[in-house]
Amino acid sequence: MQVVVTKSYDESCAYVAKMFCDLVREKPDCKLGLATGGTPVPMYKKLIEACAKGEVDFSRVHTVNLDEYCGIPETHPQSYRYFMNTNLFDHINIDKANTYVAQGMGDAAANAAALEAKVREGGVADLQLLGIGNNGHIAFNEAGDTLTAEAHIEQLTESTINANARFFDSRDEVPTTAITMGMADILAAKKVVLIANGPAKADAIRGLIADGSITTHNPSTLLKLHPDVVVVIDEELAKAAGWQG
Ligand code: PGA
Repeated sequence: MQVVVTKSYDESCAYVAKMFCDLVREKPDCKLGLATGGTPVPMYKKLIEACAKGEVDFSRVHTVNLDEYCGIPETHPQSYRYFMNTNLFDHINIDKANTYVAQGMGDAAANAAALEAKVREGGVADLQLLGIGNNGHIAFNEAGDTLTAEAHIEQLTESTINANARFFDSRDEVPTTAITMGMADILAAKKVVLIANGPAKADAIRGLIADGSITTHNPSTLLKLHPDVVVVIDEELAKAAGWQG
């Protein structure tokens, strides 16, 4: 695992955006694994800027997203399809037919099976973007006694519901279940980049980078099983997580 410590969150976003742009230039028909949440938003802005300047061409790129809430339609402003359209896809020259976000409405088991198929359709992701939850979750694979390998329906933890309540009018509106890629789906990507920022992530990041231990109680630690993972954090978070370098 490579840990990259930057001067600032903005620099972290620039670093990750460059990784994506370099990949798309090198392999114009690459497959990207994408993520939602507050953390990647400034990184997506940098991709939009690079595309506007003609520095990168997304016209042949395919994408698949990690997860989607159950029970809210694509048109809901907090659905992850809506998030991806408004934070990235509407502003770059990608063909939306080549983008995939799991369905949140309808038969959840069928939606999970459809996501599982998309993870490997046309090959696995060349680069998978991840954020990390305060409890160490990646995608919606929640901390607990067990984890799931394949795409599935996940019951969200109190920690995650509380963390995501900031995006909704009230906590009661936060969906309690989601469709998510499983751990094997994430680990199948050729390369993984995880970006994190802020003191709430310090414990989870400490578990991820401090030593070689792996625990389902911090799902991100399973990334230690992957041969090509880059963790991008700023100095402040590195310090809070006790990173010695
Ligand atoms: P955040 O979420 O970027 O909104 O903090 C990250 C995550 O839960 O994976």
